[in-house]
Amino acid sequence: MKYSVTFLPDQITIELEAGKTLIQAANYAGIGIKSSCGSEGTCGRCKIRVIEGNYQYDNKFNCTLPKKHRDAGYVLACKTFVEDNIIVQIPTESRLEAHQVLMDDKVGILAETNISLLNGYNLNPLSKKIKLSMDAPNLTEIISDLSRLETELAKQFGIKNPKISLPVLSQMAENLRKGNWQVTLTLALNGKDYEIIRIDPGHDDKSCYGLAIDIGTTTVVVSLVDLENGRSIDKMGTYNRQAKLGDDVVSRMIHSSSEENGLQELQSLVIKTINELTSKLLEKHHLTSDEICIMVTSGNTTMTHLLLGLHPKYIRLEPYVPTATFAPIVKGKDLGLQMNPEGLVYSFPAVASYVGGDIVSGALVTKISNKEELTLFIDIGTNGEIVLGNQDWLISCACSAGPAFEGGGITHGTRAMKGAIERVEIDNETFEVKVNTIESGKAIGICGSGLIDCIAKMHQVGIIDRTGTFQDTESQRVQITHDDKLFVLVWKGESGIGKDVYISENDIKNIIRSKGAVFAGIQSLLKTLQLEIELIDKILIAGGFGNYLNIPDAVRLGLLPDLPLEKYEFVGNTSLKGAELALISQESWKQAENIGKMMTYLELSVGNLFMDEFMQALFLPHTDLRLFPSVELR
Ligand code: FES
Repeated sequence: MKYSVTFLPDQITIELEAGKTLIQAANYAGIGIKSSCGSEGTCGRCKIRVIEGNYQYDNKFNCTLPKKHRDAGYVLACKTFVEDNIIVQIPTESRLEAHQVLMDDKVGILAETNISLLNGYNLNPLSKKIKLSMDAPNLTEIISDLSRLETELAKQFGIKNPKISLPVLSQMAENLRKGNWQVTLTLALNGKDYEIIRIDPGHDDKSCYGLAIDIGTTTVVVSLVDLENGRSIDKMGTYNRQAKLGDDVVSRMIHSSSEENGLQELQSLVIKTINELTSKLLEKHHLTSDEICIMVTSGNTTMTHLLLGLHPKYIRLEPYVPTATFAPIVKGKDLGLQMNPEGLVYSFPAVASYVGGDIVSGALVTKISNKEELTLFIDIGTNGEIVLGNQDWLISCACSAGPAFEGGGITHGTRAMKGAIERVEIDNETFEVKVNTIESGKAIGICGSGLIDCIAKMHQVGIIDRTGTFQDTESQRVQITHDDKLFVLVWKGESGIGKDVYISENDIKNIIRSKGAVFAGIQSLLKTLQLEIELIDKILIAGGFGNYLNIPDAVRLGLLPDLPLEKYEFVGNTSLKGAELALISQESWKQAENIGKMMTYLELSVGNLFMDEFMQALFLPHTDLRLFPSVELR
């Protein structure tokens, strides 16, 4: 039995089988609905309103919706089963809007060109074009076309034993003759040898292109790189379409195992996301997909598994083992990517289940493993990966900070995008607030840097105590609801969402747990190696904070170690930059493989060390104030 579901205000109607959920219906209709819990019925983000029609509802989860919403006809889309022709309305807050992704490439390493990034490596891309001229065969010298080409390739360029696939080989005879024995070959490094990906008749002067791709859990960014001069020509980013099936890696892993075809669904969504961006870039720059013969992807271990169609289910089950940390080089056609079907796809090596290729890529581009100085690299995101080391050794861990710094689980939390509050000032006496928002947009929420800033300032002026609990404060900005306390940052009239933008006591406790996890992760690495914090020469902070992170505030919060400011550097999202670097330098790719091999992984769930450290870090800034000598307490 089939029913129709109409979505308002889009006016899109689709037909589907009885018994499907409204979230599935929305997916078929191409409308993205938020789903932080992967349709488990626990996050409450997928709420939509049924205007007309009957449905079956799994009531058990109703508790995640406030009563006034239930009374107004709201349901959880993931727990509502279609049983009739139905009309629903999707509120703005439940929509997964496609939005512009901030490229945040104006800071630190991200602002450097690929050429300056090379610094120490040669421009020697993974794929290159070669112009080859041969003598035409004659009756006195009859060797096969392939032998002729191979002989000349070795003679003229020193390239021996090239690989060639059957589809390319089958075109070769014609192309050699069409070009009158002059051809342009596109080669890509495949293991130790080159593979001939393309044979074009004649000598063409077009450049050789590759794609560097950062596959983030939330966003995907594709950079089009001119391999001849090493420059990124353009880049585009968008939401990872997988987000509609859960917005963190765990809920996606659950989806891949709990739904029939769940893995294929997730794989095709990320491929769709990449292809969409690639198509736009190619169209804009008048290129065809056949011209893309190489792609380097960088993502966390789960993202890489999902891209390659490897099952991620054992990543989340003790003892947390991924299928592979070093993925094979595969062909574009194996994945259905918008590129030359014979082109090669490289995936950055991972270290363990929760320290993936994106971190190896970050370690590569920041050159931690090329330096003598002891560097601490921290990615302040959901997984909270931390790397410590130098040219001789590297150790890493993932402290599961949770999505709070990316705005997840925070009432008005948002990722770094236009209108996100990224800086907060609070007057000591009057508690009046001044905020800075990204690109000066009207305030729509608070991003990671804003949250850090806000809590540090609230503590400084005495609105909250060291545990994050609200104190008696004379300010109309402090409001008490039946189950929480709030501090209003931007009043309804001035905000971009038509309501007050505030931070609540629960939000603050959530951030304190996240910051506690990060600091405990750092301490666990140091203690495991019996190193003192002062020995760290450099601290690199990665994470999607937009353009700004106030380090002194992060120290005041107890998120980052109390070390001189000059030791700190904000490096932003380094995953993409590392992929760009690998694309244009074979040596740097080798180094990435070395990093993958040399980095040790510390499993924090083994033993009590991490838990002990975590409990101590649940204060502002810490239980042990000797660790934060420069932080003055009120
Ligand atoms: S409650 Fe429906 S997706 Fe989380």
